[in-house]
Amino acid sequence: MQIFLDTAEVEAIRTYAAWGVIDGVTTNPSLIAKSGRVFEEVIAEICAIVDGPISAEVTALDAPGMIAQAEPLVGIHPNVTIKVPLTPEGLKATETLANRGIAVNVTLCFSATQALLAAKAGAAFISPFIGRLDDRGERGMALIEDIVEIYGNYPQFTTEVLVASVRNAEHVRQAALVGADICTVPPKIMDAMVTHDLTDKGLAAFLADWEAAQGS
Ligand code: E4P
Repeated sequence: MQIFLDTAEVEAIRTYAAWGVIDGVTTNPSLIAKSGRVFEEVIAEICAIVDGPISAEVTALDAPGMIAQAEPLVGIHPNVTIKVPLTPEGLKATETLANRGIAVNVTLCFSATQALLAAKAGAAFISPFIGRLDDRGERGMALIEDIVEIYGNYPQFTTEVLVASVRNAEHVRQAALVGADICTVPPKIMDAMVTHDLTDKGLAAFLADWEAAQGS
C-alpha cells in the first residue's frame, strides 16, 4: 500500500519524506488555509520534496471553473493531481481533465455508488473519507471494503482507492488489510505508526547492556 501525507505543512512533509516511505501528498483548501501560505507556492514546494502525486484541490463549483483552475495548477509540476469534489460538475470536470491526460483525485466520497461514477468518469484516484463516516456512527472502513471489491470486479477501472480522513493508526492497518491502494495519513499518525513501547524499552535495554559491557 502506498502512503501519502495528508497535510500542507511543508516542514512536516520534509520530516516524514526523509523516512523514505512517502509516496505522495494530499492537500485540501482547509489544510492550505491552515498553513497560512500562498496555495501555488505550497504546492510547488511540496513537489520539490516528494516525487509522487501531489493533490491540489480546486474550489470552483462548476466544471468550466474547475477546469480553468486546474490548468495553471498542473503547470506547476507534472506530479500535480487535480482534486475535484464528487458532484455532477466534478464528474464532468474529471472526464474532461482525464481526457487531457491530467490525473484527477475525486474527493469527498461517502458512498460506493459515488466511487463507481468517479471510476467511470476516469478518475485516477477516489478519496473516500472514512473518519467522517466513523464520526457519525457509521463504519467508514466498510465503504473501503465495498469500493475495493467493486473496482476489483471490473478490471477496466484503473482508479486507485485512496483512503482519506484517517483518524488513527488502526485505520491505516485496516486499509492495508482490505487492499486499498493508498492511505493518506496526517503527520501525527505517522508518529503513532512508527512508535511502540516495546521498541523503546528494547532499545534502552540494548544500549544499557552495551554500555555496561564497555565499562567491565
Ligand atoms: C483527503 O485528501 C483530505 O485532505 C482529508 O483526508 C480530510 O480529512 P478530515 O476528515 O480529517 O478533514
